[in-house]
Amino acid sequence: MQSFGFYSPTEVAFGKDAELKTAELIKKYGGTRVLIVYGGGSVVKSGLLEGIEQLLAKSGIAFNSIGGVKPNPRLSFAKSGIKEAIKFGADFILAVGGGSVIDTAKGIAHGVANPDKDLWAFWTNEIPLERSLPVGTVLTISAAGSETSESAVLTNDETNTKIGYDTPFNRPKFAVMNPELTFTLPVYQVACGVVDIMMHTLDRYFTPTEGNEITDEIAESLLRVVIKHGKTAVANPSDYEAMSEIMWCGSLSHNGLTGLGADWDFAPHQLGHELSGKFDVAHGASLSAIWDSWAKYCLKAKPERFVRYAQKVWGIEKGNAEETALAAIEKTASYFKSVGMPTCFTELGIGVQSEEILRELADRCVFFGKRTVGSFKVLDREDVYNIYKLANH
Ligand code: NZQ
Ligand code: ZN
Repeated sequence: MQSFGFYSPTEVAFGKDAELKTAELIKKYGGTRVLIVYGGGSVVKSGLLEGIEQLLAKSGIAFNSIGGVKPNPRLSFAKSGIKEAIKFGADFILAVGGGSVIDTAKGIAHGVANPDKDLWAFWTNEIPLERSLPVGTVLTISAAGSETSESAVLTNDETNTKIGYDTPFNRPKFAVMNPELTFTLPVYQVACGVVDIMMHTLDRYFTPTEGNEITDEIAESLLRVVIKHGKTAVANPSDYEAMSEIMWCGSLSHNGLTGLGADWDFAPHQLGHELSGKFDVAHGASLSAIWDSWAKYCLKAKPERFVRYAQKVWGIEKGNAEETALAAIEKTASYFKSVGMPTCFTELGIGVQSEEILRELADRCVFFGKRTVGSFKVLDREDVYNIYKLANH
């Protein structure tokens, strides 16, 4: 094994009725006045929000609820949440929803603990984050992994810039994970989640680093499980077995475990964020739309990695290295299509883009030349442009 650090302190309550533990967990982590954050209304419709509110009321925990977080959550909403939380005197933020709600809750927590600082300055790493409020989560979609991850992704709605911010303060205190809470998901969101979970592992697995056998084996088995159960989940989002396997994979895929010791790539995520920032497309769809092009473009950096992926994940027999690698890429793309996910721009629904837009996306992705992207193959502005061009059909 290569050297690594691993800090995944989130307490997990997993299984049927897990949400009944929410009040107890809030108390355990010091919450007395709770701001509940939720999205566009799915948790109102399902009755989950009301159930949680009743639990808190019975336990003598004061709360205030704010809804309206949109997918690709906006900085402006997080800022208004900070004002609400401060007005209410919140000492704990509870997210009831998916990655967008959880990331907004993380942003609110950081803002409440640092009321004199500009929230976006943390996301751009202009100032260090030294304190935050505790955050708890009740998860309703298996996808982003934010319920245990150290990331939070916000979109600055003044500039349409979507950035992920990593800090140990982003690790929630607890994650309540009842697979039944995901049964009301639209099939498209289930599929987006399956892709995102796969990509959190693939973006770590395609690495220049060698010598992390157990990490590789964990990554490969996670991918096999998600691929298997993803099909069933999309066919029937109320299949407990499939939804529960996917739910736990979602956390393990993005808490760091599937990349320990490796130099993480994450280029497809960075390329995808630009697509979501500009076109407001779902995160999972942005990833499958770009991965095929990324893989074909980067394959030659280390074909043997794709060969291992072909054998271990897809059961493809080893032949000529490049052909085997291409067969694995083809299998992955066909799988994405089979669950209704796009593999190019037209399938993503944004149509064929002009040269000018492709250049703009590439410029923004490399922060106008201030950074490169990825590690499997280090991508500069021209590389990023070439990958967008490959996906532009
Ligand atoms: O807003 P509501 O009405 O709740 O509807 C949501 C939303 O429309 C719906 N939904 C969620 N649970 C549901 C449900 N509908 C019916 N029944 C349920 N049980 O699903 C839609 C998508 O929700 P969202 O929270 O956006 O999904 P997801 O968990 O995929 O989160 C995506 C966001 O997370 C970021 C993405 O970039 C994107 O902004 N990510 C966060 C990461 C992190 N913090 O570690 C890592 C990821 O790579 C990702 O970038
Ligand atoms: Zn993701």
